[in-house]
Amino acid sequence: MKGRMVFVVAALSLVGAYALLFREGAIPAAAAGDHLPLTVASAATSTVLAAEAEFVGSAKCKKCHLAEHKSWEATRHGKAFDTLKPGNASEAKTKHKLDPAKDYTKDATCVACHTVGFGKPGGYQMPADEEAAKKMKALENVGCENCHGAGGNYINLHEEIMKSKRKYKMEEMYAAGSLKQEAAICLTCHSEKSPTVDKTVPFDYEKMKEKGVHEHTPLKQKE
Ligand code: HEC
Ligand code: HEC
Ligand code: HEC
Ligand code: HEC
Repeated sequence: MKGRMVFVVAALSLVGAYALLFREGAIPAAAAGDHLPLTVASAATSTVLAAEAEFVGSAKCKKCHLAEHKSWEATRHGKAFDTLKPGNASEAKTKHKLDPAKDYTKDATCVACHTVGFGKPGGYQMPADEEAAKKMKALENVGCENCHGAGGNYINLHEEIMKSKRKYKMEEMYAAGSLKQEAAICLTCHSEKSPTVDKTVPFDYEKMKEKGVHEHTPLKQKE
């Protein structure tokens, strides 16, 4: 009963917020016309999961963030799943008493930090067969959403901003589930739970950001 109340109130306030933006002219009538039914419908369904938006996979971000995607692919994060396959990173595995011949892509402990949203809604699931494995491709590796948050809700907002070319505030992005970048996000994986982490070196956020995150392109629409 209580859960349902929260859902109804949240859904109404999302619709209300949209209507307000529309009235204030922040969203052009044409764009709003195109989008209102869709946005309202998805607001209603996605609000149930508002606390935990669904993961959509890095490929979904590519069409609008080509530069970041290309650069990310070349980082270690973009190849983190391959590392778990037998024969790869053998030196590092031997050094840390892991078995270079073992297929760690089947080991849930490892997969948890080397994929997107493991075990969470829309996130990576252990594939039962070849067909399922193909579907999981976009969720392999440490992807966009490991750092930026599950995209299920904010992807619609980004699309609306792209089409309307309006200015936006970061608060809006955060409210839709985009995570504010800070060391704590990195530390969910860069911790002593990683079998290969060098425990003698404290995590230096600025240095690690420079070394391990995709190249940045300036934002244009941000207020
Ligand atoms: C979901 C888990 C996860 C998150 C979150 C994460 N990383 Fe990583 N990171 C990894 C994994 C796994 C690797 C190793 C990839 C490989 O080589 O297979 C890695 C590798 C790296 C490397 C290269 C190896 C090294 O130690 O120099 C850097 C640098 C790095 N990450 C920085 C960051 C920064 C900065 C953040 C936060 C903005 C971050 N990572 C967030 C899992 C994560
Ligand atoms: C808590 C998150 C976490 C877990 C669990 C985890 N990893 Fe990683 N893995 C990382 C991070 C972060 C890095 C990069 C920095 C480091 O070495 O800690 C990494 C790097 C690696 C590397 C590359 C090291 C190198 O220098 O090339 C290998 C190999 C690796 N992991 C294998 C595994 C295997 C096998 C498992 C399961 C037994 C596993 N990882 C479990 C987070 C994790
Ligand atoms: C390891 C964490 C990590 C991963 C993985 C990651 N990002 Fe980022 N991203 C960041 C950080 C950190 C910033 C900079 C935030 C800041 O300091 O303002 C950033 C900034 C951005 C920005 C703002 C503009 C810019 O370039 O700075 C966009 C857009 C973006 N990322 C998209 C993506 C997309 C798309 C992917 C996947 C292809 C991705 N990111 C993967 C950490 C990550
Ligand atoms: C339909 C196009 C589109 C898609 C798909 C899309 N974005 Fe965006 N995104 C945008 C636009 C437009 C902006 C605003 C850019 C600007 O201000 O220049 C933006 C801004 C961002 C920013 C900076 C603001 C923030 O929230 O921190 C990040 C990070 C980001 N996107 C990540 C992602 C990720 C991750 C995905 C995939 C889950 C994704 N985007 C999917 C169009 C898109």
